[in-house]
Amino acid sequence: MLIDLCELSPSYVRSIAPYQPGKPIAELAREMGMDEAKIVKLASNENPRGIGPRTRAAIEAAIGEVARYPDGNGFELKQALARRYGVDMASIVLGNGSNDVLELVALAFLGPGRAAVYSQHCFAVYPLATQARGARSIVVPAKDYGHDLDAMAKAVDDETYVAWIANPNNPTGTFARSEVVEAFLRKLPERVLVVLDEAYNEYLPHDLKADSTRWLKRHPNLVITRTFSKAYGLAGLRVGYALAHPSVADVMNRVRQPFNVNSMALAAAAAALDDMEFVARSYADNLQGLRQLEEGAKRLGLDFIPSYGNFITVRVAQGGKSAAEIYKRLLRRGVIVRPVGGGYGLPEHLRVTVGTAGENEKFLDALSASLKD
Ligand SMILES: Cc1ncc(COP(=O)(O)O)c(C=O)c1O
Repeated sequence: MLIDLCELSPSYVRSIAPYQPGKPIAELAREMGMDEAKIVKLASNENPRGIGPRTRAAIEAAIGEVARYPDGNGFELKQALARRYGVDMASIVLGNGSNDVLELVALAFLGPGRAAVYSQHCFAVYPLATQARGARSIVVPAKDYGHDLDAMAKAVDDETYVAWIANPNNPTGTFARSEVVEAFLRKLPERVLVVLDEAYNEYLPHDLKADSTRWLKRHPNLVITRTFSKAYGLAGLRVGYALAHPSVADVMNRVRQPFNVNSMALAAAAAALDDMEFVARSYADNLQGLRQLEEGAKRLGLDFIPSYGNFITVRVAQGGKSAAEIYKRLLRRGVIVRPVGGGYGLPEHLRVTVGTAGENEKFLDALSASLKD
């Protein structure tokens, strides 16, 4: 071959560092010759409860229809979301996970000559989506691990068309209170779309949960994204959505794949949205699990970043051992967590998803042993 085929893609695409997902259980089992059943995966912020019976029934019922294309407009799910949030169906964009709707924002509003602003330690997809469009990244240093929204507002320039904010943020678990987010929205020019990524919204305590959907009327440049992957337990089916001004939603819908959400996901999400009890239990379990992990970290003398999500990021590097080394030692003990060095810029930390009480215990035991080895 005379040419390097990779060179055919634009340089801004070639320079993208690939997304590093949590290590799958089957992969670790293969690599280490371990029994899959003995492995605990706390690496991808999934819901340890699985799914509720009503959602399971909806998925089973949807199996009979898989020979047909799904409803490309997702009417039933959009109707349920519109009712829940008091928005028009024209304000909703469905995605193959909320990751998909983030990409749709980038596809529709970013490109060469444009810029997006985001924070240090933000969710990895923001730099990926920005770079893949050939847009410039404006990275603002974090404050106490969280988004410094004042500094982000100041960093906006004439080429900025998107501001990415995760609230709570992954991987830091930090949270910006509603008055701070509203002040940010008031400061930004209308030209800048503010993508408020609320993937972990359902894990917030009631008194902190702002009704951000009400801000949509006052701020037509606001795009709220949410997901069924976390508290609703549907990470494997891939379904998320954006709520936005109908004109913004319209452009996003024009660039999405016609059938970007599959029929099982549509049916499952509609059923899961109705199952408020399942979400309430997921919230309560998560709070308990977070406390368990916090207490465990304290017992081991480790600092952690107080988290508002379904995960916690713990500083494990100590006594000459790096976080990368602790990560490997945990793997050897059958526990998968998430390294957050590299792109996330937290080389001394590991991110741990809240699992069941038993999984959390197994992680804490393995961590204790890994720190001592
Ligand atoms: C902040 C944030 N946003 C979006 C996502 C994407 O999730 P999904 O595509 O499963 O909806 C994640 C996943 O971990 C996340 O942490």
